[in-house]
Amino acid sequence: MNSQTDLRPAVVVIGASGGIGRAIARVAARDGGPVVLTARSIEGLNAAAAEVRDAGGEPFTFALDVLAHDTPAHVSEFLATHGLYCDVLVNSAGYGLRGAAIALPIDDQLGIVDLNIRALTELTLYFLPQMVARKRGGVINLSSVASFTPGPYMALYYASKGFVRSFSQAIHQEVSPSGVTVTCLAPGPVSTEFYATAGATHASMFTLLPKLDAQYVAEHAWRGFRSGRRLIIPGVSARLAVFAARLLPATILLPLIARLQRSGNDPCPCGSGKKYKKCCRAGHK
Ligand SMILES: NC(=O)c1ccc[n+]([C@@H]2O[C@H](COP(=O)([O-])OP(=O)(O)OC[C@H]3O[C@@H](n4cnc5c(N)ncnc54)[C@H](OP(=O)(O)O)[C@@H]3O)[C@@H](O)[C@H]2O)c1
Repeated sequence: MNSQTDLRPAVVVIGASGGIGRAIARVAARDGGPVVLTARSIEGLNAAAAEVRDAGGEPFTFALDVLAHDTPAHVSEFLATHGLYCDVLVNSAGYGLRGAAIALPIDDQLGIVDLNIRALTELTLYFLPQMVARKRGGVINLSSVASFTPGPYMALYYASKGFVRSFSQAIHQEVSPSGVTVTCLAPGPVSTEFYATAGATHASMFTLLPKLDAQYVAEHAWRGFRSGRRLIIPGVSARLAVFAARLLPATILLPLIARLQRSGNDPCPCGSGKKYKKCCRAGHK
């Protein structure tokens, strides 16, 4: 086992097999140091490792389900075995589900709480004290523009991202005097597997709104994190969406979001028990 002083600083990306996490790993790799890639898919991790190597970094892959028991301790053990410590933690693992909260399976919805909230919080609180003691490094937590409003037909997801933003910004305020940064990254729609996983590829919210490239989001995230930013909202359209969400009264905003996210197969909001497309949308109850 290495002594504390022998350990090298690593960027640890949770949710690195695809999407935004994988893109952040690629960008972080340009600094030339170790990048630890974690997710469940070994295939995705191997592909990410090749990209990190190409970008000039030193990849380490660790296949794990962050919902498993004692994840932070397992990550820590992996790091110590390889002579590394967690200098930067990127919490990008997360998912959403599109659909009426009363119709989606409860366990699947609670999985959002477990992954997007519990696992992210546990990892952050485990590694942050070590960063503060070293007076260096920090955390990038993936929130979303969804954090700025309640989100009918993606209720659990929007609520989870609201938690991430509030938590991340609060602890940034607590730890930033030590030189440690906690950055909340809040993108709008990004072209990744996220919408397919959420069952939202046909929702107007996804089809109508402009989507950013994951690489663009990652470049903004890394630059903003390195300059100590508390909140990053990449792209003009996302910043406009946040501005609108702050400006519009809930009586206008929430029906608008519901409309953008509802599908004809959701239960009709009138409570008839029929599908929306066979009930109120069809003009009869
Ligand atoms: N795409 C968007 O429009 C968008 C916008 C705003 C915010 N976000 C947020 O950005 C983050 C990344 O999303 P994305 O768009 O990159 O989605 P994605 O392409 O679906 O990537 C999700 C990543 O999380 C990993 N993951 C999921 N469950 C896991 C588990 N139990 N244990 C370990 N890893 C797990 C996945 O890997 P495995 O499946 O291999 O485990 C994958 O690497 C999420 O928190 C999402 O909410 C996305």
